[in-house]
Order: sequence, then structure tokens, then C-alpha cells
Amino acid sequence: MTNNNMIFVANWKMHGNFNDISKVKTVLNLIKNKKFKKIKVIYCPPFTLLQSFSNFFKNTKFCTGAQNCHYKNEYGPYTGNINAKLIKSTGAKYIILGHSENRNEGETDILINQKIKSALKEKLNIIFCIGETKAEKKKKITFQVLKKQLSRGLKNIKKTNKILIAYEPVWSIGSGIVPSKEELENNLKNIKKILRECNFKNTIKILYGGSVNPKNANEISKIDGIGGLLIGGASLNSKKFIDIIKKSSN
Ligand code: PGA
Repeated sequence: MTNNNMIFVANWKMHGNFNDISKVKTVLNLIKNKKFKKIKVIYCPPFTLLQSFSNFFKNTKFCTGAQNCHYKNEYGPYTGNINAKLIKSTGAKYIILGHSENRNEGETDILINQKIKSALKEKLNIIFCIGETKAEKKKKITFQVLKKQLSRGLKNIKKTNKILIAYEPVWSIGSGIVPSKEELENNLKNIKKILRECNFKNTIKILYGGSVNPKNANEISKIDGIGGLLIGGASLNSKKFIDIIKKSSN
């Protein structure tokens, strides 16, 4: 079954300049088609473009999200950092937290938990990334890894209505390799099981991220339990991004 209320998150990482707004316009025009009435598109450009993209999206169905924030939600001497308050002031509605590229730079589950709480205080919606590395998959400890990331990342968070989970196997990000259907189904089931075990609502939507492209989007989006896609590299190319949206939402 394909989904017509999918969420598509474009994670631009450290790419993009103001002129790229023209790329976004092409995608926005497509979405005007009523066939795509129910889908949601969230652009997560670098901080430098958040405000201009948010302004551009006013009165449209698109919105913006940041890619990270500082854990403190106060103003102060934190040179080079951006907190959730500042992100909120750009008009952004979402924030990606716990991305493996930041975990790789030393971000711990505890820090991610603090960032999630900070962003929730500003009423931002969270795209909380989890996923196992290649070594963890080889050791067959994916379940334990996901459980640790979920239980620590969401510790003491009672209201989960603003949280989306993005399952992104680290070995799949940017590699062109995606999990098999069985593997993905199994990991999605496990994520739901862990959420139940930790007493979190199982209405939390789960997105998939990692090497999504126009060729694999249809198959991935049909997998039971997928509520959306988090797209890195392919989202920088509006033609590919449009193809992904078309193939995943009909
Ligand atoms: P990718 O990145 O689509 O380029 O693999 C996904 C992500 O890191 O969010």
C-alpha cells in the first residue's frame, strides 16, 4: 500500500546558498497538484538559509527545519552556537536531532536528550535520528543499539506528539546501499516494540533515511510502518526530489 500522507524531509546538510531557492520553487509548484494534498515537505537547509526559506514558505504547505542546536536554551556566551530559541525565531517548525553525523562528532545520547527537551520548550517538532553502524549490524546488536538510543534520547519526555523518529542505518547514509525489505520491516517492528516497552505512544511516526533515491523510493515507502522519508543527497537535486515524492505518494 502506498501512502498519500507521507512526510518528506530534505536534509541539505552543509550545502546550499540563497539562489537555491529557485530549486525549491520547482518542488513547491509540483505540490500544488491536489494529488499531493496530504503530503508534508520539510526543508532543512543550513542555519544561514533558514529565515529566507521560512519567509518564502509563508502561506504554503512547506516548512523549514534546522539540522541541530545547542543544548542550552538561554542567550549567552556560546560563540558559534545556535539554540532552539534562535531557530524558532527564523520561522522554523522542525529540528533534526541525533543525526549520526553529529553523533560521530561526539554527541552523546544524554546531550541529544537535553537538546530534544530544549527544542520542545520552543514547541519545535523533533526529527529524532537513530540507527546502527555497520559494525553494530555485523555484531547483531542493532536491537540493543536502537533501544539504548531511544530510551536515553527520549528519557523523561512525557509528551511525544511533537516527535518523529527517523530510522537511519549509519551504513546506509550516503553509501547508495539500503536495507533489504525484510531487514527494514524487522527494524521498524523492533522500534515500535521498544517504544511500547518504554511506554511511549506507538502513534509516533517513523521515517526512513539513508540513500533514498528515485529508484528505491517506491519500494521503501510501501513498507508497512513507514511514515515518511529523510532524504540527504538526492534532496539537493529538485528533479530527483520530485521523483522521490511522486514515486512514494501515489
Ligand atoms: P542520504 O542522507 O540520503 O544522502 O543518504 C540521509 C541523511 O543523512 O539524513
